Amino acid sequence: MKPYIYITRKLPDEVLMPLQKHYVVNMWEQEEVPVPREILLGEAEKADALLTVLADTIDEGILTAGKNLKVVANLAVGFDNIDLKVANRQGIAVCNTPDVLTDTTADLTFALLMATARRIVEAAEFVKAGKWESWSPLLLAGQDIHHKTIGIVGMGKIGETVAKRAKGFDMNILYHNRSRKPEIEQKLGAMYVSFAELVEKADFIVCLTPLTPDTKHMFTRDVFKKMKSSAIFINAGRGPVVDEEALYEALVAEEIAGAGLDVFAKEPISADHPLLKLTNVVALPHIGSSSMETRVEMMRLCIDNIEVVLNRKEPKTLVNKEWKPVIKA
Ligand code: GLV
Repeated sequence: MKPYIYITRKLPDEVLMPLQKHYVVNMWEQEEVPVPREILLGEAEKADALLTVLADTIDEGILTAGKNLKVVANLAVGFDNIDLKVANRQGIAVCNTPDVLTDTTADLTFALLMATARRIVEAAEFVKAGKWESWSPLLLAGQDIHHKTIGIVGMGKIGETVAKRAKGFDMNILYHNRSRKPEIEQKLGAMYVSFAELVEKADFIVCLTPLTPDTKHMFTRDVFKKMKSSAIFINAGRGPVVDEEALYEALVAEEIAGAGLDVFAKEPISADHPLLKLTNVVALPHIGSSSMETRVEMMRLCIDNIEVVLNRKEPKTLVNKEWKPVIKA
């Protein structure tokens, strides 16, 4: 019998074509509506492989639903939506999509920083609303980016690539990370500092740290209070790393100058969320890696990982390193 692959969002036909010959492929046919839990449970019961997205909660219920599940390939570099402990216990390989999205996500992160600092969204809306009546000296004046200090929290591959972009803007680069990165310090002139020092000194605080029990609500009201009143906070990592109420209060109290957010505590964020009422907040719908080229690469990597595991080999981008191929039905 051909192995069964279930895909939780509609993917383009050309990406799926190579799979059809050797596998039974079934897919949730909607691009924007998540697969309902009951359907996912039913599919997980039958599946040898799941191709999931970050909006799917892949918990114990899903991971133990069937006896045949061998691999979950998540279309994201982050994998906080998957219960790794249970996956390990069940002998299920969990794969993500690092590397292929690094430059694209760094581009978006830097674009968000620039859009927030230079009030680009506000300015574009101003023109389209017919409000531009004359040139004026301080019209929509924002903040400079060049020669300022960027503080990167989470110096993984994306952090390093954001630092490269910052170097091109003659920025002074601070970073905080679980471990020091001497090669990046040497190559880019980045300086390792404590989290406390980073939030106090940076003009742009860029959060790229993964979501773990240790990083949840790392950005509290106290942390925002320690930032410069001119500071701009950028989050392109995971929403729950930030206490959103604290961020809102800090913005309203003018303890910081603005925020650029690609991620939120609850996604999609509701249009009447208080943060979205503030003009100094630039909000995006979690599109860090969303270029056509990169998303297709990510899909191909997921498919490649699935095929490799179904052939009882080690996938390219395995998350649970302790996983070993096991014989299941
Ligand atoms: C996006 O947030 C990702 O983890 O790839």
